[in-house]
Amino acid sequence: MSISKTAATVAMKGGGYYSQSTLGAKDVIDNASHMLVEAAAAISEPPAGHPIQIADFGAADGGTSKKTIRDTIAALRARFPDRQIQVTYTDLPSNDYSNLFKNLLGLTDDHENNYIDEFQDVFINACGIGFHRQLLPDACLDIGFSATAMHYISEKPCEIEDHVHMVGASGATLTAYANRAAKDWENILVARAKELHTGGHLVFMNFGIDEEGRYLGNTGGINMFDTFHVLWKAMRDDGLITDEECRDASFPQYYRTRQEFCAPFTDDNSAVRKAGLRLVSAHTGIVKCPYRSAYEAAAGAMNPRELARSYIPTLRSWSETVFLNALDPTRELKERTNLVDTFYQRYEDLVASNPDGHAMDYVHCYIAIEKIT
Ligand SMILES: C[S@@+](CC[C@H](N)C(=O)[O-])C[C@H]1O[C@@H](n2cnc3c(N)ncnc32)[C@H](O)[C@@H]1O
Repeated sequence: MSISKTAATVAMKGGGYYSQSTLGAKDVIDNASHMLVEAAAAISEPPAGHPIQIADFGAADGGTSKKTIRDTIAALRARFPDRQIQVTYTDLPSNDYSNLFKNLLGLTDDHENNYIDEFQDVFINACGIGFHRQLLPDACLDIGFSATAMHYISEKPCEIEDHVHMVGASGATLTAYANRAAKDWENILVARAKELHTGGHLVFMNFGIDEEGRYLGNTGGINMFDTFHVLWKAMRDDGLITDEECRDASFPQYYRTRQEFCAPFTDDNSAVRKAGLRLVSAHTGIVKCPYRSAYEAAAGAMNPRELARSYIPTLRSWSETVFLNALDPTRELKERTNLVDTFYQRYEDLVASNPDGHAMDYVHCYIAIEKIT
């Protein structure tokens, strides 16, 4: 398969599966929601007659951020009682927007925080174009938010030989991913700078590598991406998939370090500083895997198979399309689906046979930015 644009191949698992299976991503946002409330207190008053605009970049089905967006609106409403407020949800064209609107209207299992009913003069719209380009008109955005999304690079520079993720890459391959990610980060920031009013703020919670080298699913136990790689290779060794299919399962992702996130802000000549953006704060933090925590809290009342059955769907919700898209499209869809089912079943069996060390702890870099000119 040829190297393809991320926009054509990435999607969270739809039909409500994403929010239902991704409790940890919601914990990440909920734990840091004070950063958005602080942004609501810090933004400059928008020009007279303008609504206040919030955008959630890479929102998936909107379920994980619903409470935090509600709290942000409450803070804005207290400060600007008469302003209309517009919320724009952005994601890729392949996103499940139907479920996004169902979540926001409380038509799914999540009936809480229906802010569109709670507050008057709040409007919602959605945009299915990737965040590497400008998505809103100049100088209209007050608060830009993004969680667990900007590690997706705009396209894979190459496949990663003998691994599935850049965390297992080295040499020229790693450099190619790093260069792509640096350019994408600059494009993201310059695009947001154009969209923001002077005095507007950005709050980003991005996957990254922390000062101790930890990243998603690699915080001291068994490395999740190494496990993906070993199990995918075993599918090839067992004759279930071809060499090409084995090779083509590279995640279009890059985990930046805090230093890489901060680099455009420390160089006076960078396009980002010239566009008026300044760093307010940047720190790394870990949110524990809720499925592992529940298993440990159960202290023997939950068996390893139950852990495995609750844990694998959270991995699957965001990784499935990578493995599905690596499979030869001339195979029947049913055959491709069966192969991916086998792959995740093997992961489940592995965890059930020995659960020690399996956990998907979240490692993020939390960044606050303001536009000063
Ligand atoms: C792991 S989900 C995070 C969803 C949600 N923000 C959360 O924190 O739970 C990543 C989301 O980013 C989206 N995404 C990836 N690349 C994107 C891009 N270039 N532009 C917009 N969204 C993107 C994916 O489609 C997916 O919905």
